[in-house]
Amino acid sequence: MTAPDRRRDTSEHPWRGIDLGVYEQHMSDARVGQLQQLHHITGEQLAAYPSRTIGVLGVAGGNGLDLINPETTDAVYGYDINADYLDACEALYHDTLGDRLHLIETSIDRSVRIEPVGLLIANLIVEYVGAEEFAAFAAANAGSIGVLSCVIQRNDAAGFVSSTDYASSFDALASVSSDIDPEALDSAMSDAGFAALGRCEYPLPNGKTLIRQDFRPTIVVARL
Ligand SMILES: C[S@@+](CC[C@H](N)C(=O)[O-])C[C@H]1O[C@@H](n2cnc3c(N)ncnc32)[C@H](O)[C@@H]1O
Repeated sequence: MTAPDRRRDTSEHPWRGIDLGVYEQHMSDARVGQLQQLHHITGEQLAAYPSRTIGVLGVAGGNGLDLINPETTDAVYGYDINADYLDACEALYHDTLGDRLHLIETSIDRSVRIEPVGLLIANLIVEYVGAEEFAAFAAANAGSIGVLSCVIQRNDAAGFVSSTDYASSFDALASVSSDIDPEALDSAMSDAGFAALGRCEYPLPNGKTLIRQDFRPTIVVARL
C-alpha cells in the first residue's frame, strides 16, 4: 500500500530536517539512554491511565506504541511536525494497530484542535512548543483531554543536546528549543485550568533527568 502524502506545508522547521534514523541512534546511544527510558515511561503512562483513546504529541517514529494493547484500544492519534516520521510510524504499527492508528502532520500550538482522548502523552515536545504556548494548546483542548501526561528534560550539568557522534545533526534545534522549568509548567498549566496529579523523576546516564508531570482538567466539559 502506498503511504498517504502528508506533506502539506513547505515552510522549514528544524525538526523536518532531522533523519529519523539519526534521531533514534542519538537518543538510544548508551551515553544518552533516552529512547529506552522514554519507552519505559510510556509503559507507565499507559498503565497509570488506562484509556480506550490515546493521543501522542510529537510521536516521532512511534517509540512506545508497541506497548498499546489493540484489544483494549479504540483509537490512537499520533501528531508530529515531520511527515517522514509519521510514514515510519505507519509502516511500523499499521499491522498491529490497523485502522485504530491515525497520524496527523501538524505543528502543535494553541490553534490546533485534537480528537478527544482519555490519555494524551506529550514526551519531550514541550521544549519545542514552549510552556506558555503548550498550556494555551491544553486550555483550548481541555474538553478533549482526560489526562495529559508530559515528560520534560532537566539538563543539570549536561548541554541541551547530549554528546554523541550525531550531536551536530541537532544544532538547528537551538533556534526552537528552550529549557522548561517544571514549576513554570505547573503554574502555566494551573492557569490553563489543569490540576497537577503528580511528578516523577528519571535520572539518565549522562547526568540529565527526565521529569514526568501529569495533569487533569479541573472542569470536565465532555465525556471521554
Ligand atoms: C525529542 S522528540 C520526542 C519523540 C517521542 N515523543 C519520544 O519521546 O521518543 C520530539 C518530537 O516532537 C516533534 N515536534 C517538535 N516540535 C513540534 C511541534 N511544534 N509540533 C509537532 N511536533 C513537534 C519532533 O518532530 C519530534 O518527533
